[in-house]
Amino acid sequence: MQEFFVEYKTIIIFLHVISAVVWVGGMIALRFAAHASFMEIESPIKRLERIAHALKRLFCIVAPFTIILLVTAIFMVKGYAISSSEFATLGYAKEGIWTLMFINLTVMILRRNRAVKLINEGDMVGAKFSLELIGKFMVPVNIVLGIIAIFLGTFLSNSF
Ligand code: HEM
Repeated sequence: MQEFFVEYKTIIIFLHVISAVVWVGGMIALRFAAHASFMEIESPIKRLERIAHALKRLFCIVAPFTIILLVTAIFMVKGYAISSSEFATLGYAKEGIWTLMFINLTVMILRRNRAVKLINEGDMVGAKFSLELIGKFMVPVNIVLGIIAIFLGTFLSNSF
């Protein structure tokens, strides 16, 4: 594993960084750019439909990168022997952040799918409640967690 990591270190770190850029950058773009525009849509049903559709596209784009981020992280943990180094705690912290972000993403996907079902059943109040928590709380939490992970990554990359 260490020989493989030494051989392909540049591409592994590149894939790790680009995955973080897509995941965190995608959420920031949707939450602070697209979302503000969706709020201008007058029809409540059209607004909820557009938000649900945009979330679906974000989740479809982001999902593979969450796995690439984890796989490259495993290569780095093994390649740098992080668990037996002075950076073990930082490595566990990043693993914990990834796990929280991934669970949060999974719950967001389930809430979005339920909102679409409620929209199709004509339950706008239920659909609005399902989507509102994603925009007001769950996406901002994942953005903050992602930024913390990026900072820890920058610290680690300056230490190796
Ligand atoms: C799954 C657990 C994770 C582990 C074990 C991990 C480990 C690492 C390591 C060892 C580095 C330094 C690489 C180097 O430059 O030599 C790094 C860098 C980085 N990590 Fe992670 N990481 C994890 C999760 C994450 C997450 C969830 C994000 C953001 C969503 C993230 C974003 C970054 C970024 C942007 C860098 C590059 C920093 C720089 O080069 O300045 N990582 N990570």
